[in-house]
Amino acid sequence: MPQPSEFKVRRKQLAHRIKKKSVALIASAPASVRNRDVEYPYRQDSDFHYLTGFNEPEAVAVFVPGRKQGEYILFCREFDPTKALWTGKYAGLEGARDAFGADEAFPIDELDEILPGLLENRERVYFPIGHDPELDHQVFAAVNELRGKVRTGVRAPFEFVSLEHLLHEQRLIKTPHEIHLMRKAADVSVLAHKRAMRNCKPGCYEYQIEAELLHEFTRHGMRAPAYPCIVAGGHNTCVLHYTENKDVLRDGDLLLIDAGAEYENYASDITRTFPINGTFGESQRLLYELVLEAQLDAIKQVRPDKRWNDPHDAAVHTLTKGLVKLGLLEGRVSKLIKDEAYKKFYMHRTGHWLGMDVHDVGEYRIDGEWRTLEPGMVLTVEPGLYIAPDCHDVDPKWRGIGIRIEDDVLVTKEGYEVLTDGLPKTVAEIEAFMAGSE
Ligand code: GLY
Ligand code: MN
Ligand code: MN
Repeated sequence: MPQPSEFKVRRKQLAHRIKKKSVALIASAPASVRNRDVEYPYRQDSDFHYLTGFNEPEAVAVFVPGRKQGEYILFCREFDPTKALWTGKYAGLEGARDAFGADEAFPIDELDEILPGLLENRERVYFPIGHDPELDHQVFAAVNELRGKVRTGVRAPFEFVSLEHLLHEQRLIKTPHEIHLMRKAADVSVLAHKRAMRNCKPGCYEYQIEAELLHEFTRHGMRAPAYPCIVAGGHNTCVLHYTENKDVLRDGDLLLIDAGAEYENYASDITRTFPINGTFGESQRLLYELVLEAQLDAIKQVRPDKRWNDPHDAAVHTLTKGLVKLGLLEGRVSKLIKDEAYKKFYMHRTGHWLGMDVHDVGEYRIDGEWRTLEPGMVLTVEPGLYIAPDCHDVDPKWRGIGIRIEDDVLVTKEGYEVLTDGLPKTVAEIEAFMAGSE
């Protein structure tokens, strides 16, 4: 878990970025019911965790810069020993102050009563407007209460600003500690993919390979994947977000695995595609080598003076050129790119920001232009090719082959660092690894 000081620094940074005479507030994620009396494992809202490190539901954090009695106020559940007997320990008001650095802590049930006082004579309220109907209601109820007191000289806030915009720009640039956590998630995910590769053989079921991945995550203390594992054999490789993971793996087919562990609320996101029997068939190899070439070309575009879209443009160029060479597209490369002809086989983007959320926050364009990459940003690079099984206008030898190769890349001062290297990626590396000779 990050040190409380790391969270304190983030709160200070936020306080510097919000205008004077403002208040910022944010609510925790609600617990979600799976079915009668059973909840899903709790996952905190990433923005809330980023500022507080507090992983409980039923909490609201309020930041009041310059407030004499304390700037950081945490509303949360009061400790109740009878409840704790069932649910295990939770922080309570004392823990909110002592372990999580709140200047003051109050029971969550008292938010409606206390909030108007915290907003009094403040001009602006930063919060995730429209994100949580209950919080929207609580903020506007408090503001209306203050408006009702205007004749007593009390002023109510009159500007409401989305908190996410500020916070998400802050989250986009990872601190050394965040990078350390992401490295750990990446390292364990690499081990899990290696284990999946080693254990894959014809006749296994997709869910059995999923079990290998999840077991490897869990035995390293990573209790949840960052997103549901995609374990897709044969034609399922062409379903981009396939998660049923229920089919048998057949000799001669490919297996596409898109899976990453989450560690201390930070994600990793890796895809590898490999032959179920350990040896690529000829058509599979040709397509695989093209996707790999596109991925390496895209990764080379990651460095501080480059723009967000440069890796995507590089991947599209390499893929389109290769598709022409293989006879899957016909025409001039520049025209095919302009007409987006490649989208028939490559319909997604080459990556996304990665952080606490697998599709992490942060703008991709600034003032209409693709933004420039900066050290501390982390992104995925994940080109692919998917030749649909019913794509009747291509040679049958290509049909039903889906390939994606995905790594997590940190932008550094000098260029980039692939956080997920160490996992076999070339045809030779994969075949040698699966043969057990590496
Ligand atoms: N695993 C989801 C993605 O690659 O974007
Ligand atoms: Mn991804
Ligand atoms: Mn992925």
